[in-house]
Amino acid sequence: MQKFIIHGGKKLEGDIIIQGAKNSALPILSASMLCNGESVLENCPELSDVYAACQILTSAGCTCRMQNHTVSVKADQIRNSEIPESLMQEMRSSVIFLGAMLGRTGTCILGYPGGCELGSRPIDLHLQAFQKMGVRIQEENGILTCTAPNGLHGAKIHLQFPSVGATENILLAAVLAKGETVITNAAREPEIADLAEYLRKCGAVLTGDGSSTIMIQGVKKLNGCTYRIMPDRIVTATWLAAAAVTGGTVRLLQADTSSLEGILDVFEQMHCSCSHTGDKICFSAGKRIHAVRSLKTMPYPGFPTDVQAIVTAALCTADGTSVIEETIFENRFRHVDALVRMGADIQTAGRIAVIHGVRQLHGAPVSATDLRGGAALLVAGLGAQGETVLTEISHIDRGYDSPEKILRSVGADVVRI
Ligand code: EPZ
Repeated sequence: MQKFIIHGGKKLEGDIIIQGAKNSALPILSASMLCNGESVLENCPELSDVYAACQILTSAGCTCRMQNHTVSVKADQIRNSEIPESLMQEMRSSVIFLGAMLGRTGTCILGYPGGCELGSRPIDLHLQAFQKMGVRIQEENGILTCTAPNGLHGAKIHLQFPSVGATENILLAAVLAKGETVITNAAREPEIADLAEYLRKCGAVLTGDGSSTIMIQGVKKLNGCTYRIMPDRIVTATWLAAAAVTGGTVRLLQADTSSLEGILDVFEQMHCSCSHTGDKICFSAGKRIHAVRSLKTMPYPGFPTDVQAIVTAALCTADGTSVIEETIFENRFRHVDALVRMGADIQTAGRIAVIHGVRQLHGAPVSATDLRGGAALLVAGLGAQGETVLTEISHIDRGYDSPEKILRSVGADVVRI
């Protein structure tokens, strides 16, 4: 198993180019199987989750080639509507292929996506929506068999919770369905607008993406296109936190500054200074990070749940006490134990974490428990005094493209063993 050896205390200084967004690349890769002809997806991050998505496309009968951050997919004939069980377990977000397989072939067989480190992660909202669109779903020992004998038809779908995945899955099933689909209380995350933009370029007819009400008119056919994946806003937040804990000054390039509302103001509350023009963010840490009295994760455009662990790591050495409430997932504080081992003073109770800032963290042997929790420990190690050995870094490789190379390029002392 690989690990990171981090020697903390080095100020980060310099320029970082932001990678393409994992949470946009995955649904767009799924959408590419709805199209005839070739899709060329540029700025695609090289991540284990992206490789897993390419394996699902290949097993469905697509040809999928990735080189130099560009993935080309040909989906002229889909010969298998089954998502391999191993890939369902490896990547819970494989469920995003259900909508596209149904949209293209009217059938899909998949294993129930395993719960993951963040909690049960049900897919009831996805399944209820598909049933309204004419899909019959049978479940037997953990295998879901979804069929639409008369094809998919449009429906009015209200989401009890603005689920990102459910919103995306409904889009994928609706673009080739018969008639109109209206989603109310849809998720508003920017990755959904990116997916919608790609689908429109392929010939889909849909409006309202980015708002709570999305309307889709089914069309007969979609044709592949060339599309550039949007920059990753969670990775952007991660490098800002890394600069904050090391007292550094960085410029982030090729960033998507329009999707960072819920993030930049938190760093300003921490007394860091960040300004942005176009796709550049200039950031410098304050003398000492200030605590944030109360922070609550919310659906977009609120403070993103994916940034909670990363900001928690930065607040460990803040001046004052911060309180964070995690409202999206039931079990997203698994990084706290490791932070406490590094000298942090954090108490959690249910979905609340209270962080009393300490002067400094010290290095320690710690393990990543999930993708963003692992990124949080990487950030903590960069600011800590001494050596941190971070294991189980395959979690981090799911969402970060060569993180140690990026960090070393701005002065961090981190090596992958
Ligand atoms: C997406 O997950 C992201 N993943 C997550 O990022 C992100 O944390 C999450 O959205 C929230 O922003 C991808 O885009 C691949 P949800 P998703 O459906 O779609 C409950 C990362 O670190 N729910 O909005 O699974 C669910 O249990 C990952 O990059 C239901 O109850 O998130 C959770 O509590 C982690 N029933 C809440 O909604 C359902 O049918 C949010 O889930 C679906 C969801």
